Amino acid sequence: MISNTPLNPSLGYALANATVAAAMAAEAMVGRGDEQAAEEAAASAMRAALNSVDIAGLVVVGEADGSILNVGEKVGTGAGPEIDIALEALEGTTLTAKAMANAIAVIAAAPRGGLLKVPDLYMEKLAVGPGYERGVVDLDAPAGENAIRLAKAKGVNINKITCCVLDRPRHEKIIADLRRAGARISLITDGDVAGIINTTMPETGIDMYVGQGKAPEGVLAAAALRCVGGQMQARFAFKNEAEKYQAQRLGVKDVNRRYDLDDLVSGDTIFAATGVTKGELLDGAKRMNGHIHTHTMLMSSANGVVHTIRSVTPVRK
Ligand code: FBP
Repeated sequence: MISNTPLNPSLGYALANATVAAAMAAEAMVGRGDEQAAEEAAASAMRAALNSVDIAGLVVVGEADGSILNVGEKVGTGAGPEIDIALEALEGTTLTAKAMANAIAVIAAAPRGGLLKVPDLYMEKLAVGPGYERGVVDLDAPAGENAIRLAKAKGVNINKITCCVLDRPRHEKIIADLRRAGARISLITDGDVAGIINTTMPETGIDMYVGQGKAPEGVLAAAALRCVGGQMQARFAFKNEAEKYQAQRLGVKDVNRRYDLDDLVSGDTIFAATGVTKGELLDGAKRMNGHIHTHTMLMSSANGVVHTIRSVTPVRK
């Protein structure tokens, strides 16, 4: 049961502060080839920032077996409202370790019960930006057909539709289907939270996201779309019976269920992300003249406004 209590608008800034802290900590690990150290630095900074916020926060979506900020951890001073939190202190650990584009620190919050509790397993995901009739694309239709439907709805030739897909062997069929249909494909090596959010930002040129990625990232991306509009559908993609059982133990009743955006995230939602490495969505964190410059997006489902926050923080010696 989700609480109807609206979130305090100032909570957004406190959460953005946590993604800034995580991104600044991860910046020190960019290009160092150590994914685990980068993840831990970001998580530990995010945890410290969250623990100063007056909330009774509970991490319900995120890492299952990291060393810090795992699912089930309580965050905040405990003195405020009951908030559920989804987070990836570092979304794109490989991108960070290899100094590649599109790593971000990301967090979403909703009143208790507002975020679907998902295991760290894969989901099929399909997302498009705002402005289309509901159901314009369909998770059960072939990717190429969805691209054609989208081109029709947008009133453009299919060769003007760009679909973002994670570059993985498991997506060979999707890629071949999109190519046959005549759509453009933007392949990414990691980071499908940004890949999905890009569908809502026309300047990125991405119209549709399709393919399998991790479920926690799916909930985070859905939180962003809930704030700014867009459509998303998802379904667990289990590799074996053990994974199905894992989901059932977490409370997933219908393991074959197709989730819509409102099933993934509901209620008053806040989303914040800060760039770690430069990407289409956000600039990366940069160290210059004794300061770290960061770029953050903060949005809320209460008004759909996207705030862009540039912060310049002195580096303590
Ligand atoms: P990191 O684990 O390096 O942070 O990668 C994150 C990510 O690219 C997600 O964006 C995506 O959902 C998932 O990994 C894809 O998983 P896989 O790399 O196993 O295909």
